[in-house]
Amino acid sequence: MRDLFDKIYKDKGPLGKWAAQAEGYFVFPKLEGPLSNRMKFQGKEVITWSINDYLGLANMPEVRKVDAEAAAAYGSAYPMGARMMSGHTDLHEQLEEELAEFVEKEAAYLLNFGYQGMVSTIDALVMKNDVIVYDVDAHACIIDGVRLHQGQRYTYKHNDLESIEKNLKRATLMAEKTGGGILLISEGVFGMRGEQGKLKEIIALKEQYNFRLFVDDAHGFGTLGKRGAGTGEEQGVQDKIDVYFATFAKSMASTGAFIAADQEIIDFLKYNLRSQMFAKSLQMQLVVGALKRLDMLRTMPELKEKLWRNVHALQNGLRDKGFDLGTTQSCVTPVYLKGSIPEAMALVKDLRESHGVFCSIVVYPVIPKGLILLRLIPTASHTLEDVTETVTAFSAIRARLENGTYKRMSAVLAEAMGE
Ligand SMILES: Cc1ncc(COP(=O)(O)O)c(C=O)c1O
Repeated sequence: MRDLFDKIYKDKGPLGKWAAQAEGYFVFPKLEGPLSNRMKFQGKEVITWSINDYLGLANMPEVRKVDAEAAAAYGSAYPMGARMMSGHTDLHEQLEEELAEFVEKEAAYLLNFGYQGMVSTIDALVMKNDVIVYDVDAHACIIDGVRLHQGQRYTYKHNDLESIEKNLKRATLMAEKTGGGILLISEGVFGMRGEQGKLKEIIALKEQYNFRLFVDDAHGFGTLGKRGAGTGEEQGVQDKIDVYFATFAKSMASTGAFIAADQEIIDFLKYNLRSQMFAKSLQMQLVVGALKRLDMLRTMPELKEKLWRNVHALQNGLRDKGFDLGTTQSCVTPVYLKGSIPEAMALVKDLRESHGVFCSIVVYPVIPKGLILLRLIPTASHTLEDVTETVTAFSAIRARLENGTYKRMSAVLAEAMGE
């Protein structure tokens, strides 16, 4: 018999195998200083394009003040226990009411973390005889929620209507056999490539197929729609989304999340959502902080306007220089380049060291082999100067990528990695 840990000693996993070369720099980097457009990386100032503080709320003095006052008033423990047992307060209820009203649903329920809450909501919404239909490019929290499902599930090709319909047909046949229903799950905005989920088209299919739609709008909430209420508002279909989800970890610049739906669905989830029934309630500091942030999101449209000014400046600036941004329809700004993993590492190092530009890098196995994805997240705290400097830096690194500089620089590394 083998020791349980044998496999771990031998195989660190698809990302973990790069730890020796990558840790501390490409993964687990330490960004220091107040959250803003410019932070410190290894002691040097960098333009930061890798945090999801879309509206620039994270470090605003009025936000920091409310956070600090709430911490002083309640500490980080209150309330103790799960919502159902001893962790319930008026302010939790108030936040839920305000969130529900903002996203135009009858009711909302708080989640401690988006990831965990999504997993648990999927788990609570389906029984063994139900069928799940979901996008193949779904976020890990959707994939992991679906993994808990003991019944049938079908993936459809990313945002592909033909494939969605084909799988709805299959799901309908299956559900007729099992006597269950169908849950279709999409993201509002796909966080890697920035495309909006085809919510409007999916909802149109409700005329032919009987299913319920669950939308993870982590990147849409606060950034899309006239009032910032998200992708459903942007596409004019918010009322047709059956269960709406957003996290506080992006536009709200905090921790926590919520789901919103009809009162009866939320009432059911309150009594069946294991992530909330068997875990401590969201602490008051975060609840009070979220009330403040939601108020700013509702009353300060200038934050979203500034965000979009920066998004347009960055995306147009890069496109004008011939960069491939794929099919983004949101603030998420992916830049696709061609190269090996060692080339990508040399390129990112150059971007950070020579140009002071810090963004996330995504390579195989997250995207196909031979592609490098540099992912930029513009926020309201960026300036047009940040944009200009970044576009210039990107042009410089592309020239070096194309003339083979990074290939040469990375040859030693590539050999060491057996590439
Ligand atoms: C699409 C999507 N869903 C869910 C989550 C998880 O949210 P949280 O960070 O609150 O756990 C994220 C990332 O934060 C996300 O990008």
